[in-house]
Amino acid sequence: MEDVRMQPGQAPIHPVPATPLQSSREVRLRSRPDAEALPTPENFSLEAVALPPPGPGEVQVQNLFMSVDPYMRGRMQDRPSYVPPFQIGQALDGGAVGRVVQSHFAGLAVGDTVLSMLGWREAFNAPGTSLHAVDAQALPPEAYLGVAGLPGLTAYVGLIDVLKIRAGETLFVSAASGAVGAVVCQVAKRKGATVIGSAGGTAKGDFLREIGVDHVIDYKQTPDVTAALGEASPEGIDAYFDNVGGAHLEAALTHAKPFARLALCGMIASYNGQENGTRNLSEAIRKRLRLEGFIVSDHFARMPAFVREMTAWVQAGQIRWKQTVDEGIARAPHAFLKLFTGENFGKMLVKLA
Ligand SMILES: NC(=O)c1ccc[n+]([C@@H]2O[C@H](COP(=O)([O-])OP(=O)(O)OC[C@H]3O[C@@H](n4cnc5c(N)ncnc54)[C@H](OP(=O)(O)O)[C@@H]3O)[C@@H](O)[C@H]2O)c1
Repeated sequence: MEDVRMQPGQAPIHPVPATPLQSSREVRLRSRPDAEALPTPENFSLEAVALPPPGPGEVQVQNLFMSVDPYMRGRMQDRPSYVPPFQIGQALDGGAVGRVVQSHFAGLAVGDTVLSMLGWREAFNAPGTSLHAVDAQALPPEAYLGVAGLPGLTAYVGLIDVLKIRAGETLFVSAASGAVGAVVCQVAKRKGATVIGSAGGTAKGDFLREIGVDHVIDYKQTPDVTAALGEASPEGIDAYFDNVGGAHLEAALTHAKPFARLALCGMIASYNGQENGTRNLSEAIRKRLRLEGFIVSDHFARMPAFVREMTAWVQAGQIRWKQTVDEGIARAPHAFLKLFTGENFGKMLVKLA
């Protein structure tokens, strides 16, 4: 675990030799887990593949970091969703940031840093048009998978566009120290809200206080989240950013003020089938609440402006985050599974080069 608070002017250094590669290793889905159970490393396999030279219009990329994300759990099952399921025997995919090591595409040069959806592998060839160049001098490359990437954008649109948070309001955030949650908390403080954050464990709670969260609930120490939220917000909450579902959502419904807004971002407590649903949803009628689910991919048009704003905040030392980095492609399944036990502290990444 590593505190990666950026200092103004701190230059990211990731020396990667721009050497063409002849082979790569990739993680494939070996078998589907039980829908109601935590997956195991045996559901994955690691395979070596040959890497030919890139063709016309293609570039060869060596991945520096790949992201593991909670939504990938749903893709392990064969069911319809907003992203297709992973296929048995095929390499998984997901966000990654890498360095161009060969280019047959005019728009990208050797040494450029690019974002792709070709994580879960060490290297790949892809059309240059499918890649997105990022400024590795402005931020460390892995930040484009976290605070300045999809988790950061998720936090931003959920808070600004869905919840429309206003100064003076009280916001409750679950999984508050995580990749999404920590950005939600800090942007909400910038907007003048009072923030109540829930996370598991003392270290995560301490971090939340350091980034300005007003009230911290350690739900592992205080399992009655409803009682704890009542103590933290005697007058109730105006808004809830849900990353967890289950008991956290029940607590938010119980303590929501009339006409409060609830942004349903994720429900990680139920991704492996442990939670039994939300028992007090009828509060939404009685209190005239607005519950709105959202998916970050519907908001990609916001990305360029968001990255500019977030880069300025990070460079000014105004946004902090944590990340947990596992080393090597063979660790990728273990890194992914940490998301569901809370062993990750902040953005969970796998360093590949
Ligand atoms: N709607 C979208 O477009 C979108 C996009 C990105 C992410 N998301 C969702 O946002 C949420 C956070 O994602 P992230 O990438 O930022 O992950 P993260 O918060 O960095 O990591 C997951 C965290 O969830 C917490 N957790 C796991 N199981 C839990 C349980 N049973 N009860 C309570 N907390 C639990 C753990 O933190 P603790 O140690 O604090 O328990 C864990 O560290 C997820 O639900 C994800 O699916 C949605």
